[in-house]
Amino acid sequence: MKRVAILISGGGSNMVRLAESMTGDHPARAVIVGSNDPAAGGLTKARDLGVDTFAVDHRPFGRDRAAFEAELIRNLDAARPDIIALAGFMRILTPDFVRHYSGRMLNIHPSLLPKYPGLHTHARAIEAGDAEAGASVHEVTADLDAGPILGQARVSILPDDDPASLAARVLIQEHRLYPAVLKRFAAGDRTRLDL
Ligand code: GAR
Repeated sequence: MKRVAILISGGGSNMVRLAESMTGDHPARAVIVGSNDPAAGGLTKARDLGVDTFAVDHRPFGRDRAAFEAELIRNLDAARPDIIALAGFMRILTPDFVRHYSGRMLNIHPSLLPKYPGLHTHARAIEAGDAEAGASVHEVTADLDAGPILGQARVSILPDDDPASLAARVLIQEHRLYPAVLKRFAAGDRTRLDL
């Protein structure tokens, strides 16, 4: 059984879908949920699901990313994770952190990568006049939002979409995509899934 740690920064809707998916004959289980924000709403949801949680507030560390990440690693590694799933974790990670979890860390990003790495993905897709938007799950490498793509889900951009309406429709697809990709990844399948 693979042990999965999930990192969040906010409401954690993707985390809930991941944790709920890991039951029965699923090859993995959620063992810990961590956040850089002690007030993240997802931490309560994780505890309600019976998953242990921790928080490492990034703010007292200021610009000392290495010290923040050392504390993150200490908490994560205490749970002996085989897989780290970033699910709305909004801190940029150093190459050292990425190397520590090399080949076993996934992220979900709300765009059809390689389009729109970084922030404000939905506004940028609308502004560009794109016909489609979506979400990608990828392996995390040292380059931001640029690791090998493990799966994508697409939605049409509608004429009166604004960033919020598009984000809500993409999020529904994220909730299908991430559990499906994680299950395959936990079983050793890194081939790409298109929904
Ligand atoms: C999701 O839309 C996720 O794709 C995005 O944050 C949201 C978190 O929602 N992630 C990023 O933008 C990463 N750069 P959730 O907390 O409800 O899962």
